[in-house]
Amino acid sequence: MNSFISMKNDGPIRYQSGFGAEMATEALPGALPQGRNSPQKAPYGLYAEQLSGTAFTAPRHLNRRSWLYRVRPSAMHREFLPLDCGLLRSAPFDAAKVSPNQLRWSPTPIPAAPTDFIEGLTTVAGNGDAGMQAGIAIHIYVANRSMEDRFFYNADGEMLLVPQQGRLRIRTELGVLEVRPGELAVLPRGVRFCVELVDTTARGYICENYGACLRLPELGPIGANGLANPRDFLTPVAAFEEREGRFELVAKFGGQLWLAEIDHSPLDVVAWHGNYAPYKYDLALFNAINTVSYDHPDPSIFTVLTSPSDTAGTANVDFVIFPPRWMVAEDTFRPPWFHRNLMSEYMGLIHGKYDAKAEGFLPGGASLHNCMSGHGPDAATFERASQATLTPQRIDNTLAFMFESRYTIRPTPYALSSPELQRNYLECWQGLKKNFTGQR
Ligand SMILES: [Fe+2]
Repeated sequence: MNSFISMKNDGPIRYQSGFGAEMATEALPGALPQGRNSPQKAPYGLYAEQLSGTAFTAPRHLNRRSWLYRVRPSAMHREFLPLDCGLLRSAPFDAAKVSPNQLRWSPTPIPAAPTDFIEGLTTVAGNGDAGMQAGIAIHIYVANRSMEDRFFYNADGEMLLVPQQGRLRIRTELGVLEVRPGELAVLPRGVRFCVELVDTTARGYICENYGACLRLPELGPIGANGLANPRDFLTPVAAFEEREGRFELVAKFGGQLWLAEIDHSPLDVVAWHGNYAPYKYDLALFNAINTVSYDHPDPSIFTVLTSPSDTAGTANVDFVIFPPRWMVAEDTFRPPWFHRNLMSEYMGLIHGKYDAKAEGFLPGGASLHNCMSGHGPDAATFERASQATLTPQRIDNTLAFMFESRYTIRPTPYALSSPELQRNYLECWQGLKKNFTGQR
């Protein structure tokens, strides 16, 4: 267990390291009860409250829960009433017919009208059933102002944020995180938070995971180290605010947004201990493993986090990155190959260029290749890579990622009618030449 760390809510941001580790932190000395979770009287007159991210009876190695010591219990708010969802959508994603067509989108523009993180959520696709705790939703966020006097939590799933533009300062019940493009942040199901912009605008991707909590993948023959190392995951230390006034508490529950008035900031947790908390990770620390002989392994070798389904090795969702790395494979077509996949693949680009596409796949944009839809390098990339001299080559200035799910990823009607949809995407493969002549 980490030693206790104190922090004032307006001080420098501090973190504890470890993935899913038991942590203990207090913003005031002695605020964390010793020896019991729920003493008759908690220190400082705080209320003790348990936040369970898994069933009480989940196996010990998967069980996630934290004990929160707070100024007021989370039950204290007024009635939730339905709130307009804007372009936010939720499972079941049955409002549009899903086709086998490969799809690609240009970056979502940053709006001119004042837009905070909640107002700027646009759902592009998803699958499964939030109520059955299976599947995902994929959202783009765009914002040009901080959330003011309102707070948010998501009961439908945990939220994996992949910032693409602009830094976010996320004040949560369990402490404050700051994330920038190149990092990820995970906000667990139920944790209340407020998103502030550090820069003038922000844009990024969200995987809302209805299924099992994201965890580190197994390493198998790789051994005890590699890929994303646990110590590089950072969780905030306790930080609280004591604010009273008129605030809004927005909930996502049952696929809908709900709004309740609340007369105090719900970010009033003075101390907490447990293993259910927000975290962030710098993708530059990913230990990329790949071939040193020929071919290249399946992209699963770049899995950062996985949410397993009930079928072994068949993820509800994998979060996979394509980071800067050396390519040294001999006698090999080095870019991602042509393939078809049982799993469905939504890709985004944080910065730079992706090595399977010469053009069209832009930072902030996205592509979707669903179950068994063929895809791979475009014609220009195929020509270049099949003629290239195979010296060791470093791929730099690139960071693409993939949300890969066992369930068909179903676009929303908005995504299918959006001006950002590239209606000529299929053209990128039409120039592939017939090289077969019948002669070796
Ligand atoms: Fe693929």
